[in-house]
Amino acid sequence: MKSPTNVVKQAYEIDVSSREKLINQKGLVLWFTGLSGSGKSTLANAIETQLHQNKKHTFLLDGDNLRHGLNRDLGFSNIDRKENIRRVAHVANLMADSGLIVLSAFVSPFRSDRLKASKIIGENRFIEIFVDCPLSICELRDVKGLYSKARQGIISDFTGISSPFETPINPTIKVETNTMDLKACTNKIISFISQYHV
Ligand code: ADX
Repeated sequence: MKSPTNVVKQAYEIDVSSREKLINQKGLVLWFTGLSGSGKSTLANAIETQLHQNKKHTFLLDGDNLRHGLNRDLGFSNIDRKENIRRVAHVANLMADSGLIVLSAFVSPFRSDRLKASKIIGENRFIEIFVDCPLSICELRDVKGLYSKARQGIISDFTGISSPFETPINPTIKVETNTMDLKACTNKIISFISQYHV
């Protein structure tokens, strides 16, 4: 990606810590990654609900939803997924700069893209949550009927079937949604992020 020409950065009068102080919390990004149907959205919603009840300011960015708006021009080639994650990382970063606890639920199948997202957002406030579930179980669940279509060749470049998912090597947190129930997964994440005074 080339740098913009004839564009000079402007200084903001109000900095991140002033914004955070005003709402009495620190910006944080909970980045959920995993196969389609692994439970990312369900889990992110459950966590957000709990944080919201605790009067925290949050925002949930969900792959399926952003692909209806900001990212509606993107498909599922490697290049489009990379651009999808790049845009989302910048949006999450701006939101975190405003002091929000951001939950992002994207397949984000490539290690290099997740690493870039962590650099854009800042490693100290980026929490990678691997929503681990075997492909066979996701395929059995097939909540949206997409795996069946992918097997029939109706959908191409489908993660896990005809496009790779690169398992996180050292995620901040891992939850196994086929062996742990929603409550156990939620508790594990909430108890981990309590160290960030969330
Ligand atoms: S990502 O790979 O670029 O991070 P993203 O999370 O935005 O993907 O979108 C994934 C969602 O789009 C899935 O949950 C699924 O519902 C839908 N989808 C449609 N086609 C595909 C595909 N080829 N691969 C993966 N997900 C797809």
